[in-house]
Amino acid sequence: MTKKTKARTIASAGMDMERALVLDTVRVTEQAAIAASRVSGMGDSDLVDQAGVDAMRKVLNELDIDGEIVIGEGERDEAPMLFIGEKVGLNTERAWKVEIAVDPVEGTDIAARMINNAVAVIAIAEKGGLFHAPDTYMEKLIVGPPAAGKVDITWPVAANLRSVAMSIERKVRDLTVVILDRERHKGLIQEVRDAGARVKLIGDGDVIAAISAAVRGTNVHAVMGTGGAPEGVLAAAALKCLGGEIQGRFVPRNPDEEKRLKAMGANTEKIYFTNDLAPGKNIVFSATGITNGDLLQGVKFFKDGARTHTVAMGYKSKVIRFSDTIHLLSDGARVQHINIK
Ligand code: FBP
Repeated sequence: MTKKTKARTIASAGMDMERALVLDTVRVTEQAAIAASRVSGMGDSDLVDQAGVDAMRKVLNELDIDGEIVIGEGERDEAPMLFIGEKVGLNTERAWKVEIAVDPVEGTDIAARMINNAVAVIAIAEKGGLFHAPDTYMEKLIVGPPAAGKVDITWPVAANLRSVAMSIERKVRDLTVVILDRERHKGLIQEVRDAGARVKLIGDGDVIAAISAAVRGTNVHAVMGTGGAPEGVLAAAALKCLGGEIQGRFVPRNPDEEKRLKAMGANTEKIYFTNDLAPGKNIVFSATGITNGDLLQGVKFFKDGARTHTVAMGYKSKVIRFSDTIHLLSDGARVQHINIK
């Protein structure tokens, strides 16, 4: 039997894949976050990105997977590492055959400036389990579990907000909607405010905002507006695990992107739902804070190591884990003092 035919497919392995990979997946984002955080705050977004990419790739290549990057740093000619189509993993006879979406530093500019909410993110699924979205824009509507199935991206903003409010038995004025602070969102921001809801503007990072919309207690009730399409797929993977919903429409920025979208079988007329963007039946997702944020703490360094904060989830296993982890980074390192706050 060849290596390929022996490689375990997720379909035959069921939930075991999630169990087998969830901790490894956490290690991938933890190491990327530690490396990126070490050089965050230096004002150099390329440096932060490279550190995250190098660390993520190193750990991915230590895992017993036969993995292909389907959402990555870009095409092979524009990204030396973690490019779309790159093969990662040990690829042993027993390797899990998977597709991988990564963003080693989601929010490179905010990480470089040490502003809140930069994270390292990964989603892993069986072959065919993640939509191969090109690096273009996507108009998004994201809500948490109570409003899933009760909103429609084609409706007026006010109608969706009323529906979100009803789903959680609140008034529209009690809602907070996260929107990327961009000129293109001027009209949308006004519409949300006119409807009576509050707008939380973010500089970058709509994946972690999407997760926040699906987690109670974050005071984020929806995410609206246009952001990266690859980030839409990552958000979909997390929302599928959390029971939230994303609806998205591809918005190509130029004829080239339009051509690429067509070549990849994507349709600008179609509305893509959570299941279209993350159709996998086995999905593991992990995000580790690089800088502090609403949902996750950023990396903290101490004398002998670092401390990370991660949210990891599995679709089939229905487990959402928050982990607070100490990493002893040098030989003979000891935890001198842990302050649990
Ligand atoms: P990076 O991870 O590439 O820094 O992207 C951050 C981000 O803010 C995403 O969260 C968002 O989807 C996208 O960029 C928005 O794109 P733009 O900055 O072009 O508006």
